[in-house]
Amino acid sequence: AARGRCGSGRVGGAAMAVFVTRRIPSEGLRVLSQAGGCRVQQWDSEEPVPRAELLAGVAGKRGLLCLLSDRIDREVLEAAGPSLKVISTMSVGFDHLALDEIKKRGIRVGYTPDVLTDATAELSVALLLATCRRLPEAVEQVKNGGWTTWKPLWMCGYGLSDSTVGIIGLGRIGQAIARRLKPFGVKKFLYTGSRPKPENAAEFEAEFVPLSRLAEESDFVVVTCALTPATQGMCNKDFFARMKKTSVFINTSRGAVVNQEDLYDALAHGQIAAAGLDVTTPEPLPTDHPLLSLKNCVILPHIGSATYATRSTMAVLAANNLLAGLRGEPMPQELQL
Ligand code: NDP
Ligand code: DGY
Repeated sequence: AARGRCGSGRVGGAAMAVFVTRRIPSEGLRVLSQAGGCRVQQWDSEEPVPRAELLAGVAGKRGLLCLLSDRIDREVLEAAGPSLKVISTMSVGFDHLALDEIKKRGIRVGYTPDVLTDATAELSVALLLATCRRLPEAVEQVKNGGWTTWKPLWMCGYGLSDSTVGIIGLGRIGQAIARRLKPFGVKKFLYTGSRPKPENAAEFEAEFVPLSRLAEESDFVVVTCALTPATQGMCNKDFFARMKKTSVFINTSRGAVVNQEDLYDALAHGQIAAAGLDVTTPEPLPTDHPLLSLKNCVILPHIGSATYATRSTMAVLAANNLLAGLRGEPMPQELQL
């Protein structure tokens, strides 16, 4: 059961009512409370706002500050009513927002690109190394007595040196990952996307290839694209069948880009070597999910941007986007609809 409560704080005179769907870093809330003219109602909990509370909370509000775990669809927009002018999400991903419905209503949207790129790229590299060098499995062996002596054929994995890395979605985070992986001795970068991006690819001499070739030639596949109708389920049976038996699959974008049943089969039958996932469907992944029974699958609880500094900066940016939208000013980071 959710442990939240809705709190209200009125600041200033002519109040612009906003609903904040979670307890966020205090720096972000401070921006709102110091702004003046902003009446904040908040679901003050670490846990997601229950749907009924979200629908009630948003009613009659002018602004909404939400998270990626809040599905903002037509039902929410109708519950908010015509007063809603601004939605600010504390995330760079916006697949949880029904953008067509939002656009139809003339609502502006703020999001948090760039400020989380470094943290997410760092986590992606950490997950890649943990997966290809089998760190969670090795740590477990130390604890359970599996470590009996130094063994030439034990706990071996795959290294980045001389490898081919394929990046699905060479955007902000994809480029930041490539930049960090290059010094490990990567031989070749491949990438795919909706179009070649020579200006971004030049730094890594990355080659634009179709998805099928990326799957076939990469020793490491790293997924960093946005979740869209085109990318949903993109990493499926056919994709995994094309990958090498020795290749490692990493996803730090959104769980739904991957067909998880197909990934399970590929991992369980040795079609690919290992997978590291920071994102799953659903989130949280049930603790009895088949993927969790596999030694060659490392799963993290969506912590890509989870450094104290990054989350604080994201909250401040989300708050400033909201305020700018409420005032009818240009937002620091507005999503162009
Ligand atoms: P960007 O918009 O900079 O990059 C997204 C990339 O997706 C673009 O390069 C785009 O390429 C690519 N893309 C779009 N359609 C396709 C397609 N059909 N095939 C392959 N690639 C495609 O976003 P960011 O790099 O800032 O963030 C990327 C995503 O990472 C976010 O949308 C979010 O879902 C996820 N994320 C996850 C985090 C975590 O905690 N794990 C933290 C932060 C972000 P093109 O321009 O060619 O279309
Ligand atoms: C995002 O911002 O989209 C991430 O998934 C969480 O930071």
